Amino acid sequence: MGIDILDQRKFHLYTNNTSYVLQVDAHGQILHLYWGKRIHPESLTDPVRTTPILAFSPTPYADDPQYSLDVLPQEAPMFGRSDFREPLCQLRFDDGTMASEYVFESYRLTLGKPPLLGLPSIREEAGDSVVTLSLTLRDPSYPLTMTLSYSVLESFDVITRSVSWHNEGSSPYEMERALSMTVDFPDADYRLLHLAGAWARERGEVWSELGQPKKVSVESRRGASSHQMQPFLALARPHTTRDSGDIFATHLIYSGNFLAFAEVDQYLTTRIGIGINPSEFHWILNGGDTFQSPEAVLVYSDKGQNGMTSIFHHLYQERLIPPAFRRVERPILLNTWEAAYFKLSEETIVSIAESAADLGVELLVVDDGWFGHRDNDRSSLGDWHEDRNKFPDGLASTAQRVRSLGMKFGLWVEPEMISPVSALYAKHPEWCMGVPHRPPSLARHQLVLDLSRQDVQDFVIDTLSQLIEELQLDYLKWDMNRHLSEVGSHGLPPRQQQETSHRYILGLYRVLEAITTRYPQLLIEGCSGGGGRFDPGMLAYSPQIWASDNTDAVARLAIQQGTALVYPVSTVTAHVSDVPNHQTGRQVSLGFRAMVAMSGVLGYELDPRRLSDEDREAVKEQIRRYKEVRGLVQFGYYTVLETRDPNAYGWMFRSHDGHQALVFYFRLMARANYPRTRLPVVGLPLERSYAVREWEGHGQWLSTNGGELRHVGLVIPDLRDDYQAVVWEVLAL
Ligand code: GLA
Repeated sequence: MGIDILDQRKFHLYTNNTSYVLQVDAHGQILHLYWGKRIHPESLTDPVRTTPILAFSPTPYADDPQYSLDVLPQEAPMFGRSDFREPLCQLRFDDGTMASEYVFESYRLTLGKPPLLGLPSIREEAGDSVVTLSLTLRDPSYPLTMTLSYSVLESFDVITRSVSWHNEGSSPYEMERALSMTVDFPDADYRLLHLAGAWARERGEVWSELGQPKKVSVESRRGASSHQMQPFLALARPHTTRDSGDIFATHLIYSGNFLAFAEVDQYLTTRIGIGINPSEFHWILNGGDTFQSPEAVLVYSDKGQNGMTSIFHHLYQERLIPPAFRRVERPILLNTWEAAYFKLSEETIVSIAESAADLGVELLVVDDGWFGHRDNDRSSLGDWHEDRNKFPDGLASTAQRVRSLGMKFGLWVEPEMISPVSALYAKHPEWCMGVPHRPPSLARHQLVLDLSRQDVQDFVIDTLSQLIEELQLDYLKWDMNRHLSEVGSHGLPPRQQQETSHRYILGLYRVLEAITTRYPQLLIEGCSGGGGRFDPGMLAYSPQIWASDNTDAVARLAIQQGTALVYPVSTVTAHVSDVPNHQTGRQVSLGFRAMVAMSGVLGYELDPRRLSDEDREAVKEQIRRYKEVRGLVQFGYYTVLETRDPNAYGWMFRSHDGHQALVFYFRLMARANYPRTRLPVVGLPLERSYAVREWEGHGQWLSTNGGELRHVGLVIPDLRDDYQAVVWEVLAL
């Protein structure tokens, strides 16, 4: 069933390959015993104290002078009671003090997995073997309870955790920290992996050494999960590779400010934690109120990074993205942004659409520039009606003409933003986020709509619903082009101002929930200046997200590989754009650009009317081929292949039955007189016979087998010039 309970005090949570064990001790504290490969925890009774002596570690229980939380692994580390490491939560009582005490009161087992109040979370479906353990802890002195929830998704190999706090009294408490989980590891022999970057270079893999007392924080204070950091971290044993070795990962289903940390203490044990960032967070928990933390996903794999990746992909694909898009092949779109920027008109769009339809494109997306008086990025956000100078017959007429070409029609919006130069601003200046006495900072000439307010949420829901219905939209690109500064709300009293950031995210989820419930077939593509809000929270509403504003195929290799470390390929959108590339100025062949984009959800972001005849034929062929393989690429089993060469990338997309695969190899710089290399293909059944050939140009079929492919590898052909791609088709015989 996923959970065994021993003596009413010890809980063994297990999935197909993982065990997670915790125990209530004599003082009512919840101690952590184990997380890792599936075991039978027979002799695992008492947690091992980190050290036999207590030096400078206080002892909270007078009757137990050898007991200090400072040296024990815990599930809910308290603030101010003998543990000096990072706590799970921090709360100020009405007497102004903060030392906390939570004592185990009861547990409850529920079949299934209840949704979280106001927050997206992993969905449960009929037939899933899911069970949830809730441990309620009580403060012995103040009317306050804390509930730790663990949902075990046995067949997904996943455990999720979250925490809620409930004020049973009448006096308010002030919450200053409310993380979603912490886990204590018995040693520090790990390397830490996280994803980091910046605008146009999102989600690069970053490794840091642990091993010594230190704290590594991965966090966002930007009001969004951000381009800069990802609410994800993993600890890997030093020998862990792409395909083998232990790795422990956590990812937060949240789109706002977050904190993830790894803390190695004086005794070389490691605590990790993840949750809402305590910075910019303060929450008044009034009498009778409950505060719910976001959900953290916990994944363990002994099959290295690829093993971890496949668990996240499977989970997110099946139980996080909106169900209407599960295993539904994504349309090949053409986006007008890099083709026309703000220079839009009905004729421009229709002629682009005609040219695109002829190429085989399935969806035309009208990007920024269609509304208000939006000839540049200095105005009109908030005025979501078409610019009649550009669309004298209305955008509905354009949409109709595009649809008559057999294409779907989609639109760009940035619903969370407002331009100071807009009719909406003139009417509702109080709808902007802001604080007294400090002029609001502009970013891209715009301000942020205060989504913590219900009237603003309702305005966004109504405006979008009207657009979706009037234009019969098939698709919406939901952008968010600045981060939050001078965070405050005109709708909240002074003592609640620091609630604004979290309330903004709750408001955003309310809006998204309303729109996706009303229009379940509407395909929403998330975006934030590219991949600035590529997070599991957004994924619950938008089954695909624009991975980066950087459309340079070479730069995209690292971005897409980093993104696919946790996100399913069907969620990572990738466009073929013009050369010289608009972000980097680089020129690479159309073939290379297409291969990179075809390793994700393929789209085009160029003016198809300007393609040469030769390139038109090439694009037609790319689209024809992608349609044949997109099911495999988007929903197959994805692995990163170890090229053993920093100058090269290798990826494989394999069907779940192992019958078919596509192997992509990308080589960056050309090298003269360089040894020929091979690409080991890990992940195909070793005993099975296969035929292999180069995809491009339909090369000769060669017969081989899984063992040979893995241990000998594919021979890389002699490649001349920089930026070359080779793709092989692999078919079971
Ligand atoms: C953001 C997006 C781009 C484009 C522009 C339009 O930067 O990431 O793809 O939509 O906005 O202003």
